[in-house]
Amino acid sequence: MASASASLLKSSPVLDKFEWVKGQSLRQPSVSVVRCHPTAAPSTLTVRAGSYIDELVKTAKTVASPGRGILAMDESNATCGKRLASIGLENTEANRQAYRTLLVTAPELGKYISGAILFEETLYQSTVDGEKIVDVLVKQGIVPGIKVDKGLVPLPGSNNESWCQGLDGLASRAAAYYQQGARFAKWRTVVSIPNGPSALAVKEAAWGLARYAAVSQDNGLVPIVEPEILLDGEHGIDRTFEVAQKVWAEVFFYLAENNVLFEGILLKPSMVTPGAESKDKASPETVAKYTLSLLQRRIPPAVPGIMFLSGGQSEIEATLNLNAMNQAPNPWHVSFSYARALQNTCLKTWGGRPENVKAAQDALIQRAKSNSLAQLGKYTGDGESDEAKEGMFVKGYTY
Ligand code: 13P
Repeated sequence: MASASASLLKSSPVLDKFEWVKGQSLRQPSVSVVRCHPTAAPSTLTVRAGSYIDELVKTAKTVASPGRGILAMDESNATCGKRLASIGLENTEANRQAYRTLLVTAPELGKYISGAILFEETLYQSTVDGEKIVDVLVKQGIVPGIKVDKGLVPLPGSNNESWCQGLDGLASRAAAYYQQGARFAKWRTVVSIPNGPSALAVKEAAWGLARYAAVSQDNGLVPIVEPEILLDGEHGIDRTFEVAQKVWAEVFFYLAENNVLFEGILLKPSMVTPGAESKDKASPETVAKYTLSLLQRRIPPAVPGIMFLSGGQSEIEATLNLNAMNQAPNPWHVSFSYARALQNTCLKTWGGRPENVKAAQDALIQRAKSNSLAQLGKYTGDGESDEAKEGMFVKGYTY
């Protein structure tokens, strides 16, 4: 822990922002707690970072590297089944393996993709040729990540809203995932605008994300913090903006309360757009203006990367919106962590046929490259297919 970055963090003015915890009784520091000022009394000025502090910061920076973003391929078996059904395939382990092999072996994927989020099955899975998927990713220069939440269930006492399960046993699961090669984690919870959101649902979402983030960091995994504000609804963009401000304020309040190291997290927000059923449509410039002002108001510059979800936007929409956000320098790396907006054309092109694997991989690379350009603010939209312009919004989508 004597490296340059650890000592930088220990004396960093950024961490001095945690001075507000002075006087509160925090738990006694253990070996896994870093003190901002080694001379201060142990019960003050503690920032929880675990014994992995250097590695967390490095992992987060690697994932948030210029011109690259995340391939989200962490569909649960149930969701993967829906994807496979859309191309007439059965939801068998062999079919899931064939599809995931296609994705991770796409040539030069690592030029555009810095991290891949996996479902647990895939973290322990091999390709059809018997090589560990994790090893294939590492060879491509891609950091393996793991979805750790256990999905959404109804939140009693709310307005038909949900909460996200998965904290029980998370520490031991996270430690095992780290052993298996994962270096970052993802926890997706949702907030519904048409159903409220109620104060209870927002608080529960924020608290769950913060607990998960603290546990993940303690076990060497960079947490992706994802409170997805669902696209569902007829509301306009101003309402989305208002809800997003509230949600992110609470998320950062609880992240700070849980002593999460901001330099070692990544965020996965929804872009600020009108509801999917709204009569208004917003241009990429408008989406960028609203989304960037949300981020500027709520996200500290200590956070290295903002990796947007696509949430049901078409492939092109998601790329254009990202590109619009990168027309001027931002305090954070502003990039993508798309599932549907990277995979849609690829999956259809494959159709489950071995002879289409190359064309499907080309389609994946085309999307990855377009989004890489958008991360750099250099995307022009030239040469895109009609397929890529189709929206994929599904009401009440689960992951
Ligand atoms: P989409 O980009 O399809 O919204 O996926 C979001 C997600 O959380 C995947 O990890």
